Amino acid sequence: MTGRFIVVEGIEGAGKSTCISVIEEVLKEHGIRNIEYTREPGGTAIAEKLRTILLEKGDEKVSDETELLLMYASRVQLVDNRIRPALEKDCYVIGDRHDLSSVAYQGGGRGISLDLIKGLKKMVLGDFKPDLTVLMDVTPEIGLSRVDNRGQGRDRFESEKLEFFTRVRNCYLSEASSDPSIKVIDATQPLEQVKQSVRTVLEDFLCSRG
Ligand SMILES: Nc1ncnc2c1ncn2[C@@H]1O[C@H](COP(=O)(O)OP(=O)(O)OP(=O)(O)O)[C@@H](O)[C@H]1O
Ligand SMILES: [Mg+2]
Repeated sequence: MTGRFIVVEGIEGAGKSTCISVIEEVLKEHGIRNIEYTREPGGTAIAEKLRTILLEKGDEKVSDETELLLMYASRVQLVDNRIRPALEKDCYVIGDRHDLSSVAYQGGGRGISLDLIKGLKKMVLGDFKPDLTVLMDVTPEIGLSRVDNRGQGRDRFESEKLEFFTRVRNCYLSEASSDPSIKVIDATQPLEQVKQSVRTVLEDFLCSRG
């Protein structure tokens, strides 16, 4: 398999979409044209229905455990139906979020045990993991102010308090500190510097993986 799975992570408004466009640019400069894009939760017909349930603000509270299980249900649909088949066809897959989001949000944010989440992951996805994760790191204040500047309102997650995102961010950083495949970008920098940092991470990755 020569396909690679590159994932972009970070809290809302961190600059994930911005990062993905830089990754796309760098891959194309390297002559890589077979690229698939995914976002989580979602990305297949069933996974998109789960996304709607997960992001909408309805009257019925979504229990933390329900949230965790729906995230994994959505992820398994996406991995089985799109990500693995694309990698088997030697495509590069760029994921807007993946498993680390569950560790950070349902673990760090909601307080579900990380061991439980990692056990569930192992059970439903085995050893499947991204080749590279780019973590866009910002303070929740900056991230949420960028979300609000877009003027599209806030979804169920975006409506959480700052403290929730502080826990999510800290959990992301803690995971990154023990996993060399997660590269942290200081996404509070001005846009041009952020783009350059992403570029450097990608160039290093392509250089090391050939
Ligand atoms: N380093 C930066 N400095 C200033 N503005 C930025 C920076 N990075 C991104 N932005 C702007 O902030 C907004 C959010 O960025 P972007 O959409 O890339 O974040 P995101 O992580 O994909 O958000 P979401 O979680 O909502 O998908 C955009 O309007 C973007 O142009
Ligand atoms: Mg985005």
